[in-house]
Amino acid sequence: MTQSRLDLFVDRMVSQRACLDHAARAIADLPGPVFELGLGNGRTYHHMRHIMPARDIFVFERAVASHPDSTPPVDMVLLGDVFDTLPAALKRFGATATLIHADLGGHDRVKNDIFARNVSPLVEPLLAVGGLMVSSDRMYFERLVEQPLPDGAVPGRCFIYRREA
Ligand SMILES: C[S@@+](CC[C@H](N)C(=O)[O-])C[C@H]1O[C@@H](n2cnc3c(N)ncnc32)[C@H](O)[C@@H]1O
Repeated sequence: MTQSRLDLFVDRMVSQRACLDHAARAIADLPGPVFELGLGNGRTYHHMRHIMPARDIFVFERAVASHPDSTPPVDMVLLGDVFDTLPAALKRFGATATLIHADLGGHDRVKNDIFARNVSPLVEPLLAVGGLMVSSDRMYFERLVEQPLPDGAVPGRCFIYRREA
C-alpha cells in the first residue's frame, strides 16, 4: 500500500529529529557555527537550539514567518534567497560550518530534486572538515560522503553527508 501524506509527514519529522540528534552528538567536539537552511515554522530551529544551546546557529530564510518561540535573533538571520546568501556566507565564514541542516523543499518532489541539484554546489564549500550536512532531500555533492542513518530515521526521508577531508 502506498503511504498517505500523513505517513510521509510523520516519517520526515521523526527522521529530522533522529538525524539532528545524531549529528549534534557527532560534531560536539568540533568548533564552528551551525547553519539552518529554511526556517519555516521554526520547529527544527527550536530543536537545534534545544540540543545545541551553546552553538551559534545562523538561519537562512527568504521571509521569516516562524512561531514567536522559534524566531532567531535578527543578527543570526541571513535574510534572502539562498542562491544569494550562501555565496555571501562563504565569503563571511569560509569552510567553518560544523553542521548544516537543510529543509528547503515544498510538496513537489521533482521541483525539490531540481532545487537540491542546484543548491548542492553552494552548500558543499561551507562545511568544515569533519562537519555534517543533514537534508530532507537527496543532495548532489562532489566530495561529501553519504553516511548511514541513525536508528529511528526512515531511509529516503533524510540524508546525512560528511566532509572527510
Ligand atoms: C519546509 S519549510 C522549513 C520548515 C522547518 N524545518 C520547520 O521545522 O519549521 C521551508 C522553508 O524554506 C524557505 N525557503 C525555500 N526556498 C528558499 C530559498 N530559495 N531561499 C531562502 N529560503 C527558502 C521557505 O521560505 C520555508 O520557510
